[in-house]
Amino acid sequence: MAEVVLEKLCKSYGSVAAVRDVDLRIADREFVVLVGPSGCGKSTTLRMIAGLEEITSGTISIGGRVVNDLPPKDRDIAMVFQNYALYQHMTVYDNLAFGLRNRRLPEAEIKDQIARAARILSIEPLLERRPRQLSGGQQQRVALGRCIVRNPSVFLFDEPLSNLDAQLRAQMRLEIKELRERVPTTAVFVTHDQVEAMTLGDRIVVMKDGYVQQVGTPLELYRRPVNRFVASFIGSPAMNFVEMRVEAAGDGFRLSGDGIGFDVPARAFPRLGPLAGRSAVLGIRPQHVRLGSPSAEGQAPIRGRLMVTEQLGDEQLLAIRIAGADFRIAGVDPELVFPAGAAIEAAVAHENMHFFDPEGGAALR
Ligand SMILES: Nc1ncnc2c1ncn2[C@@H]1O[C@H](COP(=O)(O)OP(=O)(O)OP(=O)(O)O)[C@@H](O)[C@H]1O
Ligand SMILES: [Mg+2]
Repeated sequence: MAEVVLEKLCKSYGSVAAVRDVDLRIADREFVVLVGPSGCGKSTTLRMIAGLEEITSGTISIGGRVVNDLPPKDRDIAMVFQNYALYQHMTVYDNLAFGLRNRRLPEAEIKDQIARAARILSIEPLLERRPRQLSGGQQQRVALGRCIVRNPSVFLFDEPLSNLDAQLRAQMRLEIKELRERVPTTAVFVTHDQVEAMTLGDRIVVMKDGYVQQVGTPLELYRRPVNRFVASFIGSPAMNFVEMRVEAAGDGFRLSGDGIGFDVPARAFPRLGPLAGRSAVLGIRPQHVRLGSPSAEGQAPIRGRLMVTEQLGDEQLLAIRIAGADFRIAGVDPELVFPAGAAIEAAVAHENMHFFDPEGGAALR
């Protein structure tokens, strides 16, 4: 049972600032995902929580107790790493038992704990093998099992699924979710995979360059990204961006760009006002684009030449060329056949448009 609180947390390696001013309050039993591109400071943040990395400044509390100077073993945490970190000379059973034996639990209880974890993770037939005799996925399950048997107050995961193939990843994602039901424990899960972040997190923390960009539920981040970076990072395929010229027109604005031109009412986009006479970046998710001309009020047309189609079976993805870049359209009928280079017309509703400042990238809605 533990709340984890990070206050003004910083980490520098010489002149490299890896984590900057991170403030985060993780509730007891909450599952929080840290997500962001390579090098943004996710692992460093996690390792500071674990006590594996010294803190440059700031405070970390676990269960109401400042742990800045506590060694990892006294923090009541269990961590799963990307590279498994299993003891190669021990069997799977002994790997799972290791932490429990250190705590001097009776062998009978250790056996029960291991049987439970092995059942949850389907590794019962592997208990007598050594890590070398396991596939990557199996090793990762053992690493998860080692975490489960310890019953810690906080689980810390550093990209535990990233070495698994796509199918196994999807399965392990479900298993981790099911695990949460059975063992509700505060958890911090690091990944660079936004699908993992969306599906696993009660809340998601998006990081970039050591800074937290936004903290919110998956839907908050999807619907109301605070800036272009978050908008592009959350959602798959990624949001399309097109630079648009903004002009005052009647009681609204005229937006014009390569392949897109339309008017929007000022009341729907009040924050475009200061950009009149300048430009704004329009963001549209591929899922919000429909093929065909606008069929109702409040929709804008989009036109471009077809560059590529990708068949996914239950839908097709199209990429059309707008302003020299690929603009993606999702959810297209998989039966439709398009000639190469076809002129594609599509539409998007005003309510599904995001606008961003062309300089700082802040959201303008
Ligand atoms: N021991 C170290 N010495 C110097 N710089 C380091 C050290 N560890 C990490 N860094 C730097 O700190 C920054 C953050 O690294 P970190 O490992 O936290 O990133 P990450 O978000 O986990 O990335 P990835 O997705 O690639 O694992 C990077 O610029 C990295 O090069
Ligand atoms: Mg990392």
